[in-house]
Amino acid sequence: MTDRTPPPVSRRALLTGGALTVGGAVAGAAVTAAARPGPAARTPATSTVDYGTEVVPFHGTHQAGIETPAQAHAAFVGLTLRPGVDREALGRLMRLLTDDAARLTRGVAPLADGQPELAAVPARLTVTFGFGPGLFDAAGLTAQRPASLQQLPPFAIDKLQPQWSGGDLLLQLCADDPVTVAHAQRMLVKDARAFATVRWVQRGFRRGRGMQDDGVTQRNILGQVDGTANPLPGTPVFAGAVWTDDGPGWLRAGGTTLVLRRIRAELETWDAADTAGKEFSVGRRLSDGAPLTGRAEHDPLDLKAVTANGFPVISEFSHAARAHVLDDRQRIFRRPYNYDEPPGPDGSADAGLVFASFQRDIARQFLPIQRNLAEADLLNDWITPIGSAVFAIPPGCDDGGWIGQGLLG
Ligand code: HEM
Repeated sequence: MTDRTPPPVSRRALLTGGALTVGGAVAGAAVTAAARPGPAARTPATSTVDYGTEVVPFHGTHQAGIETPAQAHAAFVGLTLRPGVDREALGRLMRLLTDDAARLTRGVAPLADGQPELAAVPARLTVTFGFGPGLFDAAGLTAQRPASLQQLPPFAIDKLQPQWSGGDLLLQLCADDPVTVAHAQRMLVKDARAFATVRWVQRGFRRGRGMQDDGVTQRNILGQVDGTANPLPGTPVFAGAVWTDDGPGWLRAGGTTLVLRRIRAELETWDAADTAGKEFSVGRRLSDGAPLTGRAEHDPLDLKAVTANGFPVISEFSHAARAHVLDDRQRIFRRPYNYDEPPGPDGSADAGLVFASFQRDIARQFLPIQRNLAEADLLNDWITPIGSAVFAIPPGCDDGGWIGQGLLG
C-alpha cells in the first residue's frame, strides 16, 4: 500500500534546506576547527531513494497504518478522556485530529504548528485512531460498543502494570523517520490537550527503511524472524480476518479492532540459551525463520512430523504450534514493534515487543490464541506481558469527512 504519488516537497528543496540547516547550526555553535564537519560530511547525499518524501494516503475505506507495510518507527499514545467530555466534544476533537493528521501525513504543517519545518518530511507517516471501551461510555454510546471490546481477562503469565494499560483513545503514529513521529505526536497531543490527558506513550522501532529490501520479514529484538505466518495484506484472507463484518454498523464499514500488549523479553536469559533451545521454543529456525520441518521461511508447519525417536519435530508446546489456527477467519494480523528502554534499577534490560494485533473480533480470534499461549508456550520462559489495551479502529474517511463520524456524527 506504499504510495508513490508525487512528493509534496522536492528532493532538491529538502537537500538544500537540510544543507543550510546544518551550515547554520555549525556557524551558530562556533565550533573549533577539529569539531567541524570534514569533507565527507559536506558532500551532498547521493542516494537515489527518496524515503523522506513518500506519502501514504490518509483517506480511504480503511485507516492507513494497518495494511501499510510497517514503517521503521512508531509511537502508540494512549489517552484518558477528561471528565465531562461527551459525544459532541468527541466529535469536535476527532474533526480537529483528522484534519491535522491528514495534513501531517501529506507533509503539510497543521494550522497551529509552531514548528512547520518539522512537518516537511512525511516519510510514509500514518496516523491511526482507536477508540477504547471508556470512550463509548463517555459518549453515551455504550450500545454501539463492539461486544468483545473490553479489557482482556487476566492470564497467569501476566504481570500487567497500570502505566502501560487501558486508554480511551489511541493514536498509532508510524513513519520511517523518528523526528516525523515525534512531531506528529506533539501536534496531535496538543490538539487533544483540552479533551484528554496522556496515559502512556509506547515507542517502538524496526529496522531502518532501506537497510534491507522492502518485504523482508522483520527480525524482532530476540533475533527471531517475526511475521512469517501473517495473512498477506490486500488478499481476501487478510480481509476476512481483519475487517470487521458483523457487530455495530459504524465499525462494519471498514473498521477492525486492535489488541496492544507490551511484552517484556528476558534478554539476559535468552542470550544464555543455546540456539537449539531457542529454535525448539518457537518451532522455527533462527537463521532464516523456516519451520523446523521445512527448508524455506514460508514452508508450511508440519505438526505431524516426528524424529527417529518418535518425538514431534515441532513441539506441541512451541510458540508456533500453540498459536497456529486452521481456520483463516480465526487468524490475526500482527504488526509489532520492538522497544528497548534504558535498563531498570537492577541493570537488567528493559526491552521487548509492543505487540499490536489487528483482527475483526477480539473474542473470536485473539482470545483463543492468547489462551493457548498462556496455558503452555515454551516461549513464556522468556516473555512477560506487562501492558494491555484494546481499541476499536474506526473505518477510514474521505476527504471532507472525519474519523469516527459514523459513530459520533
Ligand atoms: C514477545 C512476544 C512474542 C514474540 C517474541 C513472538 C514471536 C513469534 C515468532 C518468532 C513467530 C514465528 C514466525 C511468524 O510466523 O511470525 C510467531 C508466530 C506467531 N505468533 Fe508470536 N510472538 C509473541 C507474542 C505473541 C502473542 C501475544 C500472540 C497472540 C496472542 C502471538 C501470535 C502468533 C501467531 C498467531 C503466530 C503464527 C503462528 C502460525 O500460524 O504459524 N504471538 N511469534
